[in-house]
Amino acid sequence: MAIEPNFLDELRARTPLATIIGRRVKLARSGRNWKGCCPFHGEKNPSFYVYDDHFHCFGCGVHGDAISFVMQMEGKNFPEAVDELASAAGMEVPKETRRSREEVAHVQSLEDVLEQTQKVWSQALYTPAGKAGLAYLTGRGLTRHTIEAFGLGWAAEGRGSLAAVLEPHGITPHMMAEAGLMRLDEDGNPKGELFWGRVTFPIRDRKGRLVSFGGRILGDGQPKYLNGPETPLFSKRRLLFGLDRARAAVRAPRPKGVPPTDLIVVEGYMDVIALHQAGFKGAVAPLGTALTPEQLEVLWLVDPSPILCFDGDGAGRRAAARAAEVALPLLKAEHSLRLCLLPEGEDPDSLVRVQGSEKVGALFAEAKPLSAVLFDLLAGGVNNPGPEERAALRRK
Ligand code: UTP
Ligand code: MN
Repeated sequence: MAIEPNFLDELRARTPLATIIGRRVKLARSGRNWKGCCPFHGEKNPSFYVYDDHFHCFGCGVHGDAISFVMQMEGKNFPEAVDELASAAGMEVPKETRRSREEVAHVQSLEDVLEQTQKVWSQALYTPAGKAGLAYLTGRGLTRHTIEAFGLGWAAEGRGSLAAVLEPHGITPHMMAEAGLMRLDEDGNPKGELFWGRVTFPIRDRKGRLVSFGGRILGDGQPKYLNGPETPLFSKRRLLFGLDRARAAVRAPRPKGVPPTDLIVVEGYMDVIALHQAGFKGAVAPLGTALTPEQLEVLWLVDPSPILCFDGDGAGRRAAARAAEVALPLLKAEHSLRLCLLPEGEDPDSLVRVQGSEKVGALFAEAKPLSAVLFDLLAGGVNNPGPEERAALRRK
């Protein structure tokens, strides 16, 4: 029996590794991470390090995540360790997520379908058929280097063109549907391809595995962006676009004097890509939905105080208020947020192009802690509050 990777990812994200290990090992802060004396071999000087998602002992080489820690420490097998951590995290291991080996192999084959597709689409950008797509992207200020780094591509016109290219690789329409590349009709039969006549954005999980695609239409057609549907690989409420690259950038060792890379949450694909190109390598975006609690937990694994950056319009302000509401019950001393509202009518993509990265960097540097923003909101501009106003504010 194996357990669905999606469930395990969520379990790991909801399991604070330092807390689990801290019950058994005395840990002390070491920069972003923790260290202590290795519980698996006798030592007097700490060489056991705990990172956000794994531990490693430089003395004896023992290495693993929360699940393998519980297995090794308590002599449990894999499902027992998962059960223990799940109940600590208030999660239930649903029976139907226990999958057979065949089903795991099946997920593997869905990854292959996506990787083949990615090859086709990214190469198509440089063929005559993809010329308009490439012109669109370069017209929006993206360099060849950026286009390649993000693996942007072109899905050809016509609702059967991808199937025709994938068929010789043994990929059937059914597999394409399961990988989120085709719709199904009422009887569950593959109907038409989802992405055609669009530039494509590969969506990767935090470890860089390809899980889905987004696609943008070239002109003003509707919908402007399409995102792949939920699949066994792709969970919108847990994933953020760009997180694989942002996570690597935030955690990369940096020379003395170089400031840390902030994790910055923006609204759109193009915002993430434009910010990366302008040097803000910690940019990520949710996938066309409001920020979820799951996404916040994933963000906090990377940075204790990410910056949420919203467009300077009514929708942006509403999104900021909604994000604050979602975050409020989850905030702790080590989990906070900073808010940055952009000037009216601008998004990060337009801003770096018009104002340059220095001014945008200054805006990010001024991002306010969520607590301060909330206090200002609640205080509602009351100056010199009288006793009644004070009491009302305290209640809020
Ligand atoms: P925006 O409409 O703010 O677009 O959508 P944008 O990012 O500025 O796009 P450009 O600059 O016109 O290309 C923000 C995000 O909302 C989702 C996408 O994830 C997009 O990046 N979205 C938007 C959709 O899923 N569908 C849509 O039709 C529009
Ligand atoms: Mn935009």
